[in-house]
Amino acid sequence: MSTPVIEVEGVHRSFGSHKVLRNISFRLEEGQTLCILGASGDGKTTLLKVLMGVLRPDEGRVSIFGQDIYAMSTEELLDLRRSIGVTFQSGALLNSMSLAENVALPLEYHTELDDDTIATMVKIKLQQVGLLDAADQRPAEVSGGMKKRAAVARALAMDPRMLLYDEPSAGLDPIATARIDRLINDLKNGMGITNVVVTHEMESVRRIADRVLLQYRGSVLLDGTLDDLLESSEPRVQQFVNGDLESLALAPTTLAAYHRDLLQ
Ligand SMILES: Nc1ncnc2c1ncn2[C@@H]1O[C@H](COP(=O)(O)OP(=O)(O)OP(=O)(O)O)[C@@H](O)[C@H]1O
Ligand SMILES: [Mg+2]
Repeated sequence: MSTPVIEVEGVHRSFGSHKVLRNISFRLEEGQTLCILGASGDGKTTLLKVLMGVLRPDEGRVSIFGQDIYAMSTEELLDLRRSIGVTFQSGALLNSMSLAENVALPLEYHTELDDDTIATMVKIKLQQVGLLDAADQRPAEVSGGMKKRAAVARALAMDPRMLLYDEPSAGLDPIATARIDRLINDLKNGMGITNVVVTHEMESVRRIADRVLLQYRGSVLLDGTLDDLLESSEPRVQQFVNGDLESLALAPTTLAAYHRDLLQ
């Protein structure tokens, strides 16, 4: 068995008295796609932030590429983070810049490469996500699916070994969703990239998942393969597979959470 790229053991995380993650443990091997599923507000984005090294767990251990990320120095962590590409739930492209300029940002920030080299690398990344023709357009001038793909191109800028995606197909139509899923699979199959994808879409899960982590009220309800998910007889897992999210949902979102999302 190869060494896991991600090893999470007994992670707990609260915000004040609100226990969001409760004893989360799982592993993921290199070159696989993990889908993290769960009702809204269940802690999926929180778990991604823990994996990124930006939100320290109250308890537990997180190893990425075999290194305990919360035992590292800040410098070591920043270094490691370059091998992790992230696409945020909100997309987070800068509206005043073209797609190409957005993709160039991490290269300008993290490397000493000259402008010509950066321009070439940006073209390669945009080509990879099928957006070379839209290089000079601004985020406001392209579709939702194109924005999401541009965010993936930016996450790819530093040639990461692992990509984390927070709801990459939220708000997209089925065709744009299928295109994102194909991109996720291509990156895995063509470049050996390890993917961690938070998603609500069962269609996507069926297309991309090797492994599945289903969170329920902050705990792990299922940690297994796609087949384990599809064949589970646990009623709450079946509800999720059948798209019955309402029955899994927590209390209505708080005003504070709503404001936080608006500001993201
Ligand atoms: N920085 C924070 N401070 C306080 N509470 C937080 C913070 N971040 C998240 N929370 C709370 O933790 C819970 C889980 O939030 P999180 O964003 O991880 O959920 P999620 O599963 O990603 O939801 P969604 O599917 O809606 O994106 C929510 O109740 C949220 O309000
Ligand atoms: Mg979220």
